[in-house]
Amino acid sequence: MRIAMIGTGYVGLVSGVCFSDFGHEVICVDKDPAKIAALQAGRTPIYEPGLEELMAKNVAAGRLSFTLDLAAAVAGADAVFIAVGTPTRRGSGHADLTYVMAAAAEIGAALTGYAVVVTKSTVPVGTNRAVAAAVAQANPGAEFDVASNPEFLREGAAIDDFMRPDRVVIGAETERAKKVMGDIYRPLSLREFPVVYTGLESAEMIKYAANAFLATKITFINEIAALCEKVGADIKAVSKGMGMDGRIGNKFLHAGPGYGGSCFPKDTKALARIGQDHAVPMQIVETVIKVNDEVKRRMIDKIEDLCDGHLRDKTIVVLGVTFKPNTDDMRDAPSLTIVPALVGAGAKVRVVDPEGRREGEEMLPGVVWSDNPYGAANGADLIVILTEWNEFRALDLGRLAKKMTHARMADLRNIYAADEVRAAGFTDYVGVGR
Ligand code: UGA
Repeated sequence: MRIAMIGTGYVGLVSGVCFSDFGHEVICVDKDPAKIAALQAGRTPIYEPGLEELMAKNVAAGRLSFTLDLAAAVAGADAVFIAVGTPTRRGSGHADLTYVMAAAAEIGAALTGYAVVVTKSTVPVGTNRAVAAAVAQANPGAEFDVASNPEFLREGAAIDDFMRPDRVVIGAETERAKKVMGDIYRPLSLREFPVVYTGLESAEMIKYAANAFLATKITFINEIAALCEKVGADIKAVSKGMGMDGRIGNKFLHAGPGYGGSCFPKDTKALARIGQDHAVPMQIVETVIKVNDEVKRRMIDKIEDLCDGHLRDKTIVVLGVTFKPNTDDMRDAPSLTIVPALVGAGAKVRVVDPEGRREGEEMLPGVVWSDNPYGAANGADLIVILTEWNEFRALDLGRLAKKMTHARMADLRNIYAADEVRAAGFTDYVGVGR
């Protein structure tokens, strides 16, 4: 199959690279000349384990290329994927569809023969029909179908998620479109990964409902964690005991500083707006958004309590500021709420993050960046573990404690046990929900 992928953000680039690895001929398009130049030089603009290698392999095989020229990529393609951004529209919570609709019009103008125009971006229910109208308006004679193909990959595990998905969802209404989409995903269906065919609106809704449900699951366990702290229960034991029930499942039950990232915050807000627009308020999701904001603020209180109620002039080492490990993505990271609050209260904040500095430097003014936890711990009053990078899971706690003025730890991802931290010489340890 010949595929044009419009947008080389997380979803677009990973999908394009993986489709080429299936054996399809893929051209990735972006409007940003710097991005395309980097990709043509073999560099990925994002940090994602394994992506650069897989990209190089498929470029070398002649199946993958990058261009600024949308019309050339679309001409002759069997399928054109729209994978541009759908950020939150300022002030309203609605998803901003400017980029999606602009891409649809450009694609329409460039179509030369039958193609399926596939939306991979997360878009509100009804968008695929609007895309169809925009394509038809730009090119009244165009022969095409639309399809909705939401993506469920997680950052940091993107390639594995794409290559070994729990399911592929395809919203399509004609046999011709289903056939093209089926051929594109054949390498997965042959290996018995389930492919689910639905209508357009259902596919669009599956994506929002799945993300909102996962955000709800995390928020639920974070609220139970807050109660555990008051009643003497341990959230790790509670999550384990709950998760063994097959109906509940053990994934996404890790308590922490609140969910962040480029998807859950944006998609929960967009779903809440869709509900309001249709007079069916999404009350659970609206509460989840509110509670998640409170979770982040509760972390600030926790840190303050550990510093005897005063943050002024305390030296605090923050380990991890990206929204999760194995990514350089800082979008809506809990650190963007927590770190400025510490700085604002007069603390001296030192930050260590294996990949976050490039994006984080501008977003976190007033902090000092450090390359390793041991240097940063010199004379510090507190260590805060905010993102569970692997390099923070096996720290030499004794060495850290010796370097600190006050050896105290706020472990907001529960990666250590209180006993081991105290045995290593720390005087105080708090986790979340324990
Ligand atoms: C999420 C979904 O998991 C993907 O299925 C989806 O494709 C993607 O959004 C998207 O819509 O594009 P992602 O945002 O990359 O993926 O990361 P997650 O692993 O889902 O983590 C999201 C946030 O929840 C992170 O801040 C993470 O720390 C937090 N989290 C996750 C918890 O606090 N506890 C958990 O148990 C799991």
